[in-house]
Amino acid sequence: MKLWTKKYQPTKLKDVQAHEKAIYDLKDYVVNYKFQKKKAALIYGPTGSGKTCSVYALAKESDLEVVEMNASSFRNKDNINEIIGGSIGQASLFNKGKIILIDEVDGLSGMKDRGGVQALVTLLSKSSFPIILTANDPWQSKLSSLRMKCKMIEFQTLSYISIFNVLRKIATLEKVRVHDDILKKIATSVGGDLRAAISDLQTLSSGKKVIVKEDLEVLGERNKKENIFEALKIILKSKDADVVLGSLDNLDENFDEVFLWLDENLPIEYKNNLDLARGFNYLSKADIFRGRIRRWQHWRFLVYERVFLTVGIALSKDKKYFGFQRYKRTQRILKYWKAKMKYAQRNSIAEKIAMKIHSSSKKVLRDELPYFKIIFKNNGQDIAKELDLDEKEIAWFNK
Ligand SMILES: Nc1ncnc2c1ncn2[C@@H]1O[C@H](COP(=O)(O)OP(=O)(O)OP(=O)(O)O)[C@@H](O)[C@H]1O
Ligand SMILES: [Mg+2]
Repeated sequence: MKLWTKKYQPTKLKDVQAHEKAIYDLKDYVVNYKFQKKKAALIYGPTGSGKTCSVYALAKESDLEVVEMNASSFRNKDNINEIIGGSIGQASLFNKGKIILIDEVDGLSGMKDRGGVQALVTLLSKSSFPIILTANDPWQSKLSSLRMKCKMIEFQTLSYISIFNVLRKIATLEKVRVHDDILKKIATSVGGDLRAAISDLQTLSSGKKVIVKEDLEVLGERNKKENIFEALKIILKSKDADVVLGSLDNLDENFDEVFLWLDENLPIEYKNNLDLARGFNYLSKADIFRGRIRRWQHWRFLVYERVFLTVGIALSKDKKYFGFQRYKRTQRILKYWKAKMKYAQRNSIAEKIAMKIHSSSKKVLRDELPYFKIIFKNNGQDIAKELDLDEKEIAWFNK
């Protein structure tokens, strides 16, 4: 039995559903590789949205060979150099051109050896062939150096209409009789994953040519790992308590991160001030319970934390907000980091002063440092020398 996902895999780019702009960018990237500033392109988007199959369709169309490797099979730095190193060298005169496809680079971040990403980044710059990377979530901090080297191409979550269209086509070709309503049910249940939708259709039609509504029960509850963007979309867009309540259930992120995400994106979606105020009120309520759980290990309170974060925030809006919003990655962590860096100088100076005057750095921070700031204005050089300050510390005094 052949899998329908393979059987109906697009062989031409025009057969790929949706993603018009992304496909255009991808093709342009490969065809005009010589003129590209970036040595690699990174296609990212949800699972089953067509990232891998688009690369194959493009290769076929452009008569290129695909050299595929999966990043999750990379074990360490040397191993990466070995596997990729061989294929990125000069093109031979007689071979046809190729695309190097490195699938699932988000798998790299799970690798113990931190040199992995760096090794890959170094290899990219040496390639004479287009390299295409794919990922579901490219925004992990470990991948930042990789992101900078890549042209980023986003595959957005497929709409249920796009999924429905493909299912309709396949059902017709397979001569399966099935009502549009049933196909729509399948299409909406998969959260944008067309691969899952196609295999559901195949499961339902195995051994028969007519599918009825009752058959859907076979599929049961799907246990999809939602990503945070989808969860945000549900919480911020929907007003249906039942739907919203489950939105965080299959999430990889922990609740602490969900707080930051909601904090960042609430104002993007809730344009009405009253909605926004109510939304933040629920976020703060959830935060109170989070504190109680932490302090008293009162895990039963998780129920409340979850309800406030989901239903509380969702029902804070009077009306639904329509239209697409691009949710942002939370900036909060970056701000923490910047703040930490800002204080890093201050703290190291305090330590140096404390050493000299036999005090504690905490006390120096409180009592002496303000005076040092004033004295430094007149007598900076001597102090810098006496305390052995480095450039950054001197800059801190001068700012
Ligand atoms: N946009 C699309 N147009 C047509 N078919 C698609 C599309 N997206 C997915 N498919 C179908 O689903 C199958 C799986 O898609 P593909 O392997 O390209 O997904 P992916 O985005 O690479 O997912 P993953 O992140 O899990 O690797 C394809 O073989 C094809 O049959
Ligand atoms: Mg893939």
